[in-house]
Amino acid sequence: MAKFSCVGESGYYYYVMRILLTGSEGQLGYDFQYVCGSRHEVVAHDIDLDITDGKRVLERAKEVRPDIIVNAAAYTDVDGAESNEILAYRVNALGAYNLASACLELDIPLLHISTDFVFSGESDVPYTEFDSPAPRGVYAKSKYAGECFVRMLLRKHFIVRTSWLFGVAGKNFVRTMLKAGNNNKEINVVNDQRGSPTYSRDLALKLFEIIEKGIFGTYHVSNTGSCTWFEFAKQIFEIAGVDIIVNPITTDEFKSPAPRPAFSVMRGLSLEMWGFKPLRHYRDALCDFILRDLPSYKGSEK
Ligand SMILES: NC(=O)c1ccc[n+]([C@@H]2O[C@H](COP(=O)([O-])OP(=O)(O)OC[C@H]3O[C@@H](n4cnc5c(N)ncnc54)[C@H](OP(=O)(O)O)[C@@H]3O)[C@@H](O)[C@H]2O)c1
Repeated sequence: MAKFSCVGESGYYYYVMRILLTGSEGQLGYDFQYVCGSRHEVVAHDIDLDITDGKRVLERAKEVRPDIIVNAAAYTDVDGAESNEILAYRVNALGAYNLASACLELDIPLLHISTDFVFSGESDVPYTEFDSPAPRGVYAKSKYAGECFVRMLLRKHFIVRTSWLFGVAGKNFVRTMLKAGNNNKEINVVNDQRGSPTYSRDLALKLFEIIEKGIFGTYHVSNTGSCTWFEFAKQIFEIAGVDIIVNPITTDEFKSPAPRPAFSVMRGLSLEMWGFKPLRHYRDALCDFILRDLPSYKGSEK
């Protein structure tokens, strides 16, 4: 996978890869470049390389000749997918198919990102990579279809499932709460869905370790710890010093178009098995996000 080697500050050699990144302007795409831009060569594309266009994807891959493709592009509007089924499948399933096909032709690996929503949410113990997915809702099913295409087409794959992402460059729950905190005295938040909030910068760092170790397969990668959206909102306001009343409500009361798993906490059994260090607790990541990284972020929210 290595293209050429450099001497790092420590005096050790390390390999520089050329990485073709899709979805570069999303929250993970942005942090992926932030984390690895100085160490590896990243050729970044967002919607300018439409992953639903298989011919163009292959052409671009042949031009760039990357050592690996990292797919952070997705249709991520969980509720919107319910009324945009074809678009969700085109981006999340056909897009993955096109990228896996290009990788197969170039004989390079694909790192593809998926979601905790592939699980039904009926368990009360964290899902491992060896539990069977049972996605509910169009977004979840389209993401699972993407995983299936990647597994079917390409042996050299890393499929990384993550959860409840927040990052400086995107729309996410943390930013929504911080905005709501500016304009409201009271807010209702769902308290019967449990998951693991994950900082996209921490995820990006772990993606690197996974790529560099080079063991193909499926990985669950989230910050450790879990909470409900209500508990998460309370922590966000506490860290940001916002005085607001947060009321717990049920999923039924919130009435969103897409079904969501009640419990989507994942265990990173592959990380454990192959000897990776677990990610830090989501609360530590949240503090860094709110107090350090968000205030210094110069870009705009997408
Ligand atoms: N966000 C979460 O809470 C969460 C949770 C679990 C897993 N994930 C997965 O994590 C990955 C990264 O998520 P994210 O939150 O970083 O997503 P994001 O912020 O929505 O970024 C996705 C990017 O892909 C672009 N895109 C959409 N359609 C495309 C196409 N046809 N061709 C090329 N680019 C396209 C989007 O552009 P536009 O904005 O212009 O559409 C956007 O810049 C995704 O695979 C997602 O399913 C996310």
